[in-house]
Amino acid sequence: MNKLSVNHLLGIKYLNRNDIQLIFNTADNFKKIINQPIKKVPSLRDITIANLFFENSTRTKLSFEIAEKRLSADVINFSSGASSVKKGETLLDTVNNILAMKVDMVVMRHPNPGASVFLSQNINANIVNAGDGTHEHPTQALLDSYSIKEKYGNVESKKVVIIGDILHSRVALSNIYCLKMLGAQVAVCGPLTLMPKYLNDLGIKYFSNINEALNWCEIANILRIQLERQDVNLFPSLREYSNVYGIDLDLLNSLSNEITIMHPGPINRGVELSSDVADSDHSLILDQVENGVAIRMAVLYLLSNKN
Ligand code: CP
Repeated sequence: MNKLSVNHLLGIKYLNRNDIQLIFNTADNFKKIINQPIKKVPSLRDITIANLFFENSTRTKLSFEIAEKRLSADVINFSSGASSVKKGETLLDTVNNILAMKVDMVVMRHPNPGASVFLSQNINANIVNAGDGTHEHPTQALLDSYSIKEKYGNVESKKVVIIGDILHSRVALSNIYCLKMLGAQVAVCGPLTLMPKYLNDLGIKYFSNINEALNWCEIANILRIQLERQDVNLFPSLREYSNVYGIDLDLLNSLSNEITIMHPGPINRGVELSSDVADSDHSLILDQVENGVAIRMAVLYLLSNKN
C-alpha cells in the first residue's frame, strides 16, 4: 500500500500503524534527497499550499515551508496577526477566500482544539494540523518517533517518559498515541496538577518522582511549561518547578543508565532543561528538527495523491 487511510492529517488518533510506517518509509527517501547537493524534487509541482498560522511558531512554520519548497510546491504564508482576522473575519471566511485563489492544501496552526477537524468538515482541500491548541500536534509526534527509530532501530518496546506540562501539551497527547501505536512503553512525569483528568484512560504509567522516571526510561521527552495556557498557577513558581523537575547534567550523571533527551522546542533553558544537557551528546533535539522536514515532506506528498 502506498496510500494513507486518511485525506487529512488531523491527529495521530485518526491514523493506523500502516499509515505511520508508510510516512516513515517515505520520509527515509526524502531524507536521502535533502542531504544531497540538489535538495529539490518536482513531486508537488503545480500544487499550491497555504500555511495558515493563527498562533506563533518557529520550527513548525519554517519546517513546513521548507518541506513544501523542497517538493517544488507553490507556497503562501498567512499570519493571523497581520491579517483581516483582526477586523473580525471568521476562520471559515478567511480560509474560503484563500481557497478561492486556487489553493490545494492547507497547513494550519490554531489555538482552538478541534479547529482543523472543523475546517476539514467545511472546506474542500487537504488539511494538515500543525498544532491545534491543547489537542494534537501530529507531525511533531511523527518526527519524534521517527527520530527514536533512527537512533535505536525501532520504537517497539522502547521506554519513553514525557516530562512536564502534560495537561496543556498537544505534543504529549500526539506522542502518547503515536508511541503506543508503535509498541513503545510510555510514561509521563510531572506534578499531578499538570496531568490531565483522563490520564488513567490513556493506559500509560505515571511518575511523580523525576529520579524514578529517569531510572525507568531509555528516552526522556522534556516539555516546556506553557504558562500562556494557564489561567491559574498550577505550581508555586517556575524556580520551584525547576528545582524538582528540571534536568541537568549532574542528574543525568547520577543515573545508572544512559538516556536520550528529546525536546520539541522552544526550550526554556534553565527551567525544564539546563544548557549543559540541551547541548550535550545526550540530546536529540536538533536531529528532531532536521527530521521534521523529511516527515513533513512525506505527509504532504502522501496527502497530495501525487504518489
Ligand atoms: N515544536 C514546535 O511546535 O515548535 P514551534 O512552536 O516553534 O513551531
